[in-house]
Amino acid sequence: MGTRHLTTVGELLRWAAKRLGGTAAAAREARRALLLATGERLLRQEERLGPYERGRFRRIVEARARGVPWPALEESTAFLDFEVLVPPGVFIPRPETEELAELAIAEFQKAPPRPRALDIGTGTGVLAIALARARPDAEVWAVDVSPRALHAAQRNAKRLGVKIKVLRSDIFSAVEGKFHLVVANPPYVARKEWWALPKEVRDFEPRRALDGGEDGLAVLTTIVREAPNYLAPGGVLLLEIAPLQKEALLALAKRGRWGETLVLSDLAGRPRFFLGRRC
Ligand SMILES: C[S@@+](CC[C@H](N)C(=O)[O-])C[C@H]1O[C@@H](n2cnc3c(N)ncnc32)[C@H](O)[C@@H]1O
Repeated sequence: MGTRHLTTVGELLRWAAKRLGGTAAAAREARRALLLATGERLLRQEERLGPYERGRFRRIVEARARGVPWPALEESTAFLDFEVLVPPGVFIPRPETEELAELAIAEFQKAPPRPRALDIGTGTGVLAIALARARPDAEVWAVDVSPRALHAAQRNAKRLGVKIKVLRSDIFSAVEGKFHLVVANPPYVARKEWWALPKEVRDFEPRRALDGGEDGLAVLTTIVREAPNYLAPGGVLLLEIAPLQKEALLALAKRGRWGETLVLSDLAGRPRFFLGRRC
């Protein structure tokens, strides 16, 4: 059924809730779409929307019905206690990465004055920004291969008033010096698991942000192998990983200059974060 004859807020909300599945959650999504379409204006049920706002509302609802994630529609998302812009083509930060950020901040708080941190595959810049906010005396580098990501990270840091050094680097290729902390949420999805990813992720995230090669370990193994060259003695590497990669990474780390290695679980109890402390 077309929506052209629907003009009041009440009619449009009822149509949208039905289009989005007819549940209580769908009704909430319909209200969220209305707020987005009208620039957060609060509206009464009997109020009529003009053609521009109606068109915008319909496009948002149809995009949601196709599975486009909310942060992609709103072009922003919350991370810890701040908000970042998420332009198209840049990975949307996920809740488990907030856990990685908390672990990284706890480690970074222990570092000496004017410490250095490196965020590999920074995307919107969330990890680098979180570290720079936690330690204003730090020098924080944020690297990525994606020009869109680098632009987003730079812009987000500026909006939030933090200084980070943003540069293009294929893993460590343009990185110099020693760091007290290296953190990364790199692409780690194995090819055979691609189809098991939620549709919202598979269809709307940049492939390069997720695809970790045949076994998902392509970028992770390079980081674990090379990180000791970029860490100060006692420095820490923290990585987000898939639960099945735990054993392979711990075995690989046995051959490197690591004093301590362990894998920590996420809030759902799955092995999720690799921690290596350089000897
Ligand atoms: C899963 S996203 C993580 C983004 C962000 N750190 C976060 O947690 O929201 C992975 C990021 O790694 C970047 N990336 C992929 N391969 C890379 C490489 N070889 N070197 C540096 N960055 C890479 C992608 O462009 C993407 O921005």
